[in-house]
Amino acid sequence: MTDYLGLLRLDGRVALVTGGGAGIGRATCQALAQAGAHVAVADIDQAAADRVAQEIGRGEAHRLDVADEAEVAAVVDAIVDRHRRIDVLVNNAGLGGRIATIELPTERWRQVHAVNLDGSFFCARAVGRHMLAAGRGAVVNLASIMGLVGGGHYPNLAYHSAKGALVNFTRALACEWAAAGVRVNAVAPTFARTRLTEPLLADAEMAERLLRDTPMGRFVEPEEVAAAILFLASDAARMITGVTLPVDGGWTAR
Ligand SMILES: NC(=O)c1ccc[n+]([C@@H]2O[C@H](COP(=O)([O-])OP(=O)(O)OC[C@H]3O[C@@H](n4cnc5c(N)ncnc54)[C@H](O)[C@@H]3O)[C@@H](O)[C@H]2O)c1
Repeated sequence: MTDYLGLLRLDGRVALVTGGGAGIGRATCQALAQAGAHVAVADIDQAAADRVAQEIGRGEAHRLDVADEAEVAAVVDAIVDRHRRIDVLVNNAGLGGRIATIELPTERWRQVHAVNLDGSFFCARAVGRHMLAAGRGAVVNLASIMGLVGGGHYPNLAYHSAKGALVNFTRALACEWAAAGVRVNAVAPTFARTRLTEPLLADAEMAERLLRDTPMGRFVEPEEVAAAILFLASDAARMITGVTLPVDGGWTAR
């Protein structure tokens, strides 16, 4: 009989998690490490990456700005030099920008796309080379419910645009790499209480409205997003590619 729980194990595999120093990225590092993976925790905040690598025990920390393609190439080279493989990439580093579109500075528009979208491309391209050569690998992108719907109760155009693009990035790359054995999926979480959403959710009236629109009536925990990422990264999802899995308590089902 198939060892179904064993399919979730990642023993002997190497994972790279961007933005792994906090929030959903940190929980993802914990989940992948608990499943047996060696985790490269990469974050623009070196101290945060160090803390998480230490916390999970089986990992290493890298200072990385995903928007800098030379840095991405150097970190991926360092991981492959050391381990001769990368099996899992989680494109988690991201930031938003709650601001009316007519006030949105070009610089902020570019920055939000640079981190969420360009960063995912730089990492997928650099890691993909090794995954394609190995004939196996799993990429998981952090989209958002805001990549699946247009209405978020407040203006955040650059974020909607970048996360929406990531949904089709996920499909297109999945099609391109499927025959080579490399899967590409995404998760689309609803709101989690992290540093990213702190200013938004500190607005009690806003938090109340968001909860009213969530059929399950609560925010998602970072650990619940990490569990979905672990599933998509593992062989339990070995026939799944190109999907964006909502982890949203029913937000997009309405
Ligand atoms: N929190 C939510 O409600 C929510 C909902 C949907 C999607 N997401 C997505 O999940 C991902 C993680 O969000 P979070 O809420 O955990 O955020 P967070 O702000 O708590 O953590 C993000 C981490 O990424 C790091 N980071 C920021 N810019 C970086 C860069 N250029 N290069 C490398 N690392 C960088 C930060 O230092 C931080 O450690 C993001 O892509 C976000 O858009 C979050």
